[in-house]
Amino acid sequence: MIALYPGSFDPIHLGHVDTVEQAASLFGEVVVAVIHNPDKSTGLFAIDERVALAKTALAHVRGVRVEAFAGLAIDAAALVHASCIVKSARNASDFEIEQQMANTNYSVSGIRTVVMLALPSHGFISSRYIREIAVHSGDVSTLVPVNVDNAIRAKHK
Ligand code: PNS
Repeated sequence: MIALYPGSFDPIHLGHVDTVEQAASLFGEVVVAVIHNPDKSTGLFAIDERVALAKTALAHVRGVRVEAFAGLAIDAAALVHASCIVKSARNASDFEIEQQMANTNYSVSGIRTVVMLALPSHGFISSRYIREIAVHSGDVSTLVPVNVDNAIRAKHK
């Protein structure tokens, strides 16, 4: 079964990696869809850089591929013949957002969403704060895969 995991992944962090590992073990195939989120205009990495970083960070997970998409997550899911969308929730506020998106996507396309729970050890990690710390040359090495940490350091040298 193919699952689509859409997100901004700017940058991919350890919580995302855990979600992909969970999804790959459940569904067999996961397409990580790097999609521009119009609500997040100030990006750290360009879309092609996010894809490259995610590919390296996820190289150890069997059955995963990473691609960039424009537009709707439901259209990306249809393009790759995904049976479901996978998202992750760290807490109740994430869950409420995911519930609304899941029900909207189901209502307009019929695709279901499976919401996976973030590990407690990763439940506080957010790309937004990683970007904020990174632009001030802070240390995010406990939050991101090694290749992402290296890319952030190279960008802000
Ligand atoms: O990592 P993010 O920023 O939380 O991911 C949000 C993302 C990219 C998954 C969401 O913005 C999205 O699905 N964008 C594609 C546009 C879309 O499908 N909009 C309809 C939502 S019901």
